[in-house]
Amino acid sequence: PPVDSMLLVNDFEDWAEQILSGTAWNYYKSAADREITAAENQDAFRRYYFRPRMLRDATHGSLNTEFVGMQTALPIFISPAAMAKLGHPLGEVNLTKGAGKCGIVQGISINASCSLDEIMSAREQNQQVMFQIYLNKDRKASEALLKKVTELGASAVIFTVDAAWRSKRTRDVRAKAAVAPPPSSKDQSKSKAPLGVSQAISGYQDTNLTWNDLDFIRKNTNLPIIVKGIQSVEDAELCVQHGVQGIILSNHGGRQCDFAPAPIDLLYEMRINKPELFDKIDVMMDGGVRSGADVVKALALGAKAVGLGRSFLYANGTHGEDGVVRLCQILAEEITNTMRNIGANDISDLKPELVGPAGPWVY
Ligand code: FNR
Repeated sequence: PPVDSMLLVNDFEDWAEQILSGTAWNYYKSAADREITAAENQDAFRRYYFRPRMLRDATHGSLNTEFVGMQTALPIFISPAAMAKLGHPLGEVNLTKGAGKCGIVQGISINASCSLDEIMSAREQNQQVMFQIYLNKDRKASEALLKKVTELGASAVIFTVDAAWRSKRTRDVRAKAAVAPPPSSKDQSKSKAPLGVSQAISGYQDTNLTWNDLDFIRKNTNLPIIVKGIQSVEDAELCVQHGVQGIILSNHGGRQCDFAPAPIDLLYEMRINKPELFDKIDVMMDGGVRSGADVVKALALGAKAVGLGRSFLYANGTHGEDGVVRLCQILAEEITNTMRNIGANDISDLKPELVGPAGPWVY
């Protein structure tokens, strides 16, 4: 279908299910165990409604903003996600070019399927990207990688802390189990990844990490550090104590701990119980964001920007670079409409009093 016929973020997911290979679809869609958190990430947004304000002449502001020192034309970023080539032969390079056209920041996964050099050279002049790492059991390899991304000109390092241990990604495992030949078969060549794509790409990771490992990263780069995968207010406070510049409240799109809380709920908890944290560190979130309204809710509660993972993989898978651009347009339009309708001109007008828990209320 023509890219212009995509009207909602989830239209890309619907088409991806039809078009992508089974391996790609099952790897992208996959989540941990019973996929409760993956569903909850989206459902939780329904518990927050706007408190729209009228007659504020909110029709001429912009969507420009910044987070962790990076400029962005929209308050969204591409969450780092592995293996974009499973969905489209040009892979992450499509995300880079699309992000460049739309003026947003891309998070590049350490498990990207294009090389770092390919991705970095697909950038427009001054286009900013973040590089995401997992720590390698061989710290020398991590050191070399941090040196390389610093030299190549990334604007921040994202340290993902919620996936040192790989969980059971149910669909991913089942899909692979389905294509693996039976044990009696002579041809075992297809059974290379019997536990799924996820397990196949994570073997180098150190599973034994502590807060001290942040010091290792700090020692090996002077870039701002963003810790991704924070799932409690207590750990957000520890990030402040460890002097990192940003955190992404995230449960890895429900792919790690089933029954981890929805990031929008954690953001709300932080807003209610520890509002001072928002002045000490840039807070971002991802997980379950499927509309401009979702983005605006998170920003009103204090997020500086909001990430999308699967939606970009799906848009790339169905329409390549054009899909990436179209996804940004859809979000930009919805964010603008929502802001106009609740009385916010600029991103800085998005304040907590514009959002609240859903009713109905009995007074
Ligand atoms: C991810 N995610 C992820 N995160 C990360 O830090 N490094 C990675 O390599 C990956 N890889 C990855 C692959 C796939 C297929 C998915 C779906 C996700 C998590 C990602 O950054 C983000 O947290 C979630 O995707 C956000 O949830 P939504 O937007 O998919 O609901």
